[in-house]
Amino acid sequence: MAILKVARIGHPVVRMAAAPVREAEIASADFQRLVDEMVVTMHEYDGVGLAAPQVHVSLRAVVIEVPASNVRSEAAVPLTVLVNPVVTPLGDERGSGWEGCLSVPGLRGVVPRFNRVRLEALDREGRPYAAEASGFFARVIQHECDHLDGKVYLDRMEDMRTLSFLRELHRHVPDAEEAVD
Ligand code: NI
Repeated sequence: MAILKVARIGHPVVRMAAAPVREAEIASADFQRLVDEMVVTMHEYDGVGLAAPQVHVSLRAVVIEVPASNVRSEAAVPLTVLVNPVVTPLGDERGSGWEGCLSVPGLRGVVPRFNRVRLEALDREGRPYAAEASGFFARVIQHECDHLDGKVYLDRMEDMRTLSFLRELHRHVPDAEEAVD
């Protein structure tokens, strides 16, 4: 199984609105392999999420997995596959947190996100499911689903002065914990 090349900002695929996955294609060997390869790629680069456009595939598919060792997450999130996800904010409360992105390597910035969201998606078998998420999981969902609309976290930042190289952040803001999405 291949580790896929990650698209960085500047590549047009990162800025395109991705196409819905056709339900008839979900069970196909090609789509199942894409999901498997997104998972190994996310693991290889220590991400907690990865969207298909980040591996040069303009489809509405996301993988998320937050290990128990993640210092920022309130709880581990088991491997979750989101096909054609729809994210709806629950309430208008937002919180700020540091984010990074495999498509914007080496940088971190403070991003406001809704604290709670409702998620509706298909799983990798094409079965519909719905969930409510809060905290760090809600942040990762919003970050990853933004990729499906050609958005990166930089577009959501309200104070660009927080944009930092990771090395400098570690040196000067020791309590800024990491989130690589
Ligand atoms: Ni990202």
